[in-house]
Amino acid sequence: MKPEDLRSHRWFGGGELRDFSHRARARQLGLNPEEHLGKPLIAILNTWSGINPCHMHLRERAEQVARGVWQAGGFPVEFPVATLSETYQKPTPMLYRNLLAMETEEVLRSYPVDGAVLLGGCDKTTPALLMGAASADLPALFVPAGPMLRGHWRGTTLGSGTDMWKYWDDRRAGLLGDRELAELESGLARSPGTCMTMGTASTMTAAVEAMGLTLPGAAAIPAVDSAHHRLAAASGRRIVEMVASGLTLSKILTAATYVDAVTTVVALGGSTNAVIHLIAMAGRSGIPLGLDDFDRVARRVPVLADVRPGGRYLMEDFYYAGGVPGLLSRLAGAGLLHTDRVVATGRTLGEELADALVHDDDVIRPAANPVAAEGGLAVLRGNLAPDGAVIKHIAAEPHLLRHTGPAVVFDGYADLKHRIDDPALPVTERSVLVLRDAGPLGGPGMPEYGMLPIPARLLAEGVRDMVRVSDARMSGTSYGACVLHVAPESYVGGPLALVRDGDPITLDVPARALTLDVDDAELARRRAAWRPPAPRHERGYGALYAAHITQADRGCDFDFLARAGANPEPDPR
Ligand code: FES
Ligand code: MG
Repeated sequence: MKPEDLRSHRWFGGGELRDFSHRARARQLGLNPEEHLGKPLIAILNTWSGINPCHMHLRERAEQVARGVWQAGGFPVEFPVATLSETYQKPTPMLYRNLLAMETEEVLRSYPVDGAVLLGGCDKTTPALLMGAASADLPALFVPAGPMLRGHWRGTTLGSGTDMWKYWDDRRAGLLGDRELAELESGLARSPGTCMTMGTASTMTAAVEAMGLTLPGAAAIPAVDSAHHRLAAASGRRIVEMVASGLTLSKILTAATYVDAVTTVVALGGSTNAVIHLIAMAGRSGIPLGLDDFDRVARRVPVLADVRPGGRYLMEDFYYAGGVPGLLSRLAGAGLLHTDRVVATGRTLGEELADALVHDDDVIRPAANPVAAEGGLAVLRGNLAPDGAVIKHIAAEPHLLRHTGPAVVFDGYADLKHRIDDPALPVTERSVLVLRDAGPLGGPGMPEYGMLPIPARLLAEGVRDMVRVSDARMSGTSYGACVLHVAPESYVGGPLALVRDGDPITLDVPARALTLDVDDAELARRRAAWRPPAPRHERGYGALYAAHITQADRGCDFDFLARAGANPEPDPR
């Protein structure tokens, strides 16, 4: 590519007043002309923050990306962008996913950027960065933050998230003392990096690797491994080549790419959050992807990764076993991937997988000996979820997958917290726990409340799973017979708003059905009496969000971002 063909040339390369000004300001940045003029400007979008433990190493990694960019003849510029810390940001970073997506798109659009390296990995960060980058449609390469090392406590391996829930239930059941709890606090998350179970973070970074938006093998490299430093530098070198060859995201993101992403999520036994994020990402690519695509893929793709919470191992084991290339080679061998599509290396997926190996058949199973023949995900419909709901049934107790029980209804999370452990709550292990007002608008932000806690009285009796139904999401590290993403949500008058205590609810996963066993006339009477709740936010970002957010089955993007239409390039002069 000639320097005058670069997008940044329009800022720096001409003879007009603005070019003169931009060059003068580059001198102010401390740069000599020969250091940057005519070179592709690579934006390094960094989601580092002092409050984001999953990204705490990304300052250093940005330097390593920059090293690679310089080596390949590019000009690296770091841009700090919003940090979405799954742990600390409330009510949930999901409220802000689209904000980071907008920031990503607009940074790339408004500055003299030729290509971008995107640094992140904690849950919503990955879809946010890629939604924005897909809309901007420049060459872009993702560098996943990488999972943390295995957790450890008294000789036991701990999974972040998953074991937090498990040990907290033990605590509530009176089985753990203060000392044990303090030790667990030090052992659950013991290095920088994203959750090392197959939570939303690793599900999304692995899906994005399968899509061909990272260098091969990137997603499973532990955050603190020296290989992660080398990945960063190699990504810096590669993005310069991607700019030279004009390999924009839209050349990688085809309909087949998204189907392969769904296939990968299912084979990983991945997080249900991926359903929402991949639908939203596909929307930015102008590719229709819906809930039924997930159900169709999940019926034919086996779960091959034996990683918690659906399986036994952790991401560090998955890395040693061959990582995403190992998994993809198994899927490709079973004819389940589109191997002729181009990936970020400029080669085809099939070419990249030709040398991929699996080193441990326990962790990455052969297709003939899967963790589960199906069961990664199922999409349910019925009069309780006319626009669909999702369940990850490998993470549930099998006897609950066909179940009818009386509803115990909670109106929002505060009500749930207030009453769930009340000894007088009329609940048995056959009850169906229902949480409403926890959807995209009602939550707001669709918080991860979907794994409703088991009432303490039942926990003490040894009950560890019950059918739960909500319009919320669930953490990828959670488990249980939790029906999630019920659409439309109760806040907008979905049928969930009409459920009353004692109503029979039937979950039938084999039939893909979720039914409220109340007759239509009674439901119509209840609907006539229903009044919409007050707005959650009347000003600020929350009000913008409420005016434009779509429901879960459409990916919870903003309606004005998920559509085609004129959005002109700025004229820098
Ligand atoms: Fe960041 Fe789990 S909290 S990935
Ligand atoms: Mg999570």
